[in-house]
Formats: sequence, C-alpha cells, structure tokens
Amino acid sequence: MVNTKVTSLVSIITFVFIFFVELSESQKLAPALYVFGDSNVDVGNNNKLDISAKTNYLPYGIDFPGATPGRPTNGYNIADFFASETNTLAPALYVFGDSTVDVGNNNNFDTISKANFSPYGIDFDDGATGRPTNGYNMADVIALSLGLNIPPAIRSVDFKSYDCDHGFNYASSSSGILPDTGTNMKGVMSLGEQTDMFNKTVHEFLRPRMKNPTDLKNHLSKSIFFLVTGSNDFTINFLMSKNRTNSDRFNFSKHLVQKYATQLQKLYYLGARKFVVFEVEAMGCSPSAVLKAFPNNPNKCVDDLNNLAKNYNTLLNQILQQLVSNFKGAAVIVGKNYDFTYQMAQNPARFGKLILD
Ligand SMILES: *[C@@H]1O[C@H](CO)[C@@H](O)[C@H](O)[C@H]1NC(C)=O
Ligand SMILES: *[C@@H]1O[C@H](CO)[C@@H](O)[C@H](O)[C@H]1NC(C)=O
Ligand SMILES: *[C@@H]1O[C@H](CO)[C@@H](O)[C@H](O)[C@H]1NC(C)=O
Repeated sequence: MVNTKVTSLVSIITFVFIFFVELSESQKLAPALYVFGDSNVDVGNNNKLDISAKTNYLPYGIDFPGATPGRPTNGYNIADFFASETNTLAPALYVFGDSTVDVGNNNNFDTISKANFSPYGIDFDDGATGRPTNGYNMADVIALSLGLNIPPAIRSVDFKSYDCDHGFNYASSSSGILPDTGTNMKGVMSLGEQTDMFNKTVHEFLRPRMKNPTDLKNHLSKSIFFLVTGSNDFTINFLMSKNRTNSDRFNFSKHLVQKYATQLQKLYYLGARKFVVFEVEAMGCSPSAVLKAFPNNPNKCVDDLNNLAKNYNTLLNQILQQLVSNFKGAAVIVGKNYDFTYQMAQNPARFGKLILD
C-alpha cells in the first residue's frame, strides 16, 4: 500500500480509509470475485431463512472475534482466502493506541476502563468483545479491507498455540503516549508498554516462525503500523490541572510529540517502515466537552480545546516530516482526524447520524 510513490514523504490525506480502498482497487489482480456453490464456500446466504441448513451460531465462526457470520467453518473458507490472496497489500497490521482502536486488551483487568459488557458490541451476534463500539472499529475495518484476519488483542493471545501472522492489536483504552496517562486506572498499557509488547512479539512470536532473518525483515517492512493515540494525554492528564498558561500548553505539546517520536523510532529500529499515524481529534467538539461548556447548545464546539488540538497536530506533522527524512525507507501517512471529527460535529447528518446524544 504505502509503496515507493510515497516513500520518504509525508503524505497527507483527508480520510485514511478511503485512501486504502482506492489503492487496493487499483492494485488488485482482478476487480471482483463472484462465488457460486454449496456450503464449501457459503458465507451466510441461508442466515435469514427459516431452515436448518445454516451455521450462524457457535461453534461455527469461533475464529472470528465476536461474530458468527454464517460460514460452516471455524474461520474463512477457500473462496475467502482466494479473494484475500489476490488482494493482499500488506502481510500484517499492527495496531497501537487508545480506546479508538482497542479490541479488548483491558478485559481481564479490574479497571473501569473497559467495555466488555452490553450495550457495547450490540452489532456482534455474540455481543460485547471489549471494543468500546457497537461493532468493528476503524483498525478492524482496515484489516478486513487489506484481506487480513482481524488482529486480536495481544493480551488474549498465547504465543504457544496461536499461529496467524496477520498482526496483533496492542491498543489499551485510557492509555496515552506518556507513561502516566491513565495509570490511575489499573491495567492500562501506555504506548511505551505497547511497543515493548511488540518487541516481545518480534522476538518470541515472529522470529521463531520466519525461515530466516530476511523473511522477518520483509514481513516487518511491508506490514502496516497503525497508531491512534494522544488525546488522553490531554483530556485525562494535562487538562486535569487548572490554570495552564499558553507556554505550558506549547511545552506540553512539544514534549508529547517528542515522546511520540521516541516510540516511533523504537518501532523503526525493530523493523517497522510503514506507519499510519493519527492526529488528535477535534477535542473541543467531543460530546463531554460540549456538554460541560455549553449545556444548552449542543451544536457548539469549545474553541480553546480545538486550538490546543490544532497546535499539537501542527507539531506532530512537523516531527513526522523530520522522522521520514531521517529514517531511510520509512513512509508515514497522517490520519487527518481533526478535520474529520470537526466536520462530523458540524454536519452530523452528512455522516448518517441525525441525533448526537
Ligand atoms: C487559578 O486561577 C484563578 C484565577 O486567576 C485563581 O482564583 C485560582 O486560585 C487558581 N487556581 C489554582 C489551582 O491555582
Ligand atoms: C516552556 O518552555 C519555555 C521555553 O523553552 C521555558 O522558558 C518555560 O520555562 C517552559 N515552561 C514550563 C512550564 O516548563
Ligand atoms: C527489545 O528488547 C530487547 C530485550 O529486552 C532489548 O535488548 C532491546 O533493546 C529492545 N529493543 C528496542 C528497540 O527497544
């Protein structure tokens, strides 16, 4: 995906998912696959019929996290694999960050920062998975669009018995870039701990499975490293203290992007080359910030918080440019989360949601 065309420059895009889909369309070996047949390749055509020849219940689909799609298999069938072979743009997706992309890493901890209960997961047949969403999150959808299995929560994986090298998800709700963000909630893994877990993954999981060091290097350099983090460092860390001056704000943002760069460097040293790094969202438009500042006007945004986000994002873009020019072979795509979330708050109907609550 992030091919030679974008190597060594920071490519700025408006919405990362659309970009992936466009590239994948142009690089596929065939534009489409039409599948006919019986249960060998059925992906759930009988699900809605009142007949016994269907398999949208357990133990079918046990390899799909939180879903039983209707395939009479534990996971993907041969037609699925055929489709993904013609379409694999990256061998794996490694996901880092906060609740935006968490798939259940905090589940087994005694913390308030988890979502493995209803109404979370209402779009999954089996209910909650630990994702703080009703269904798949952005990283899941990107894995699927790359033809990969959805990367599982690293803390639920046993390296001894697990055998899929399509990537892992290290994201932990309430975490941030700084080690002290969210630590008042037990079990939260900071970005540094997440990248340490990735180091462990390379040594204990990937290295023993690859035939030689070149295969490992190729796997890592072609894989996508997807990071969504930073807003918790503001909302549940920096902004918890009152009376912050403008210079405090600038210093904090500067400090934060430097710490972020250190983590990205660590991934680079371990072999990562293709990064997708998200800006922080329009924090001043988040429902909680708006409710607190303007209880009677849900259509406004808190400019002060949005300016903080914009200034941080400017510094982030600058440091990413530097990283790409200093690190040979690295490519970074910036996920323009600020503009996207700002537009969503300004014009929710355009995104298919008429009531924000
Ligand atoms: C913050 O500033 C306000 C107004 O200047 C002042 O009254 C208050 O005591 C300050 N609070 C702290 C925690 O310094
Ligand atoms: C912020 O940085 C400026 C310039 O480096 C420095 O003068 C100032 O003392 C710093 N403020 C804090 C609160 O660290
Ligand atoms: C990865 O872990 C090993 C073993 O703990 C350590 O020696 C090495 O410095 C780590 N690598 C990075 C890039 O952090």
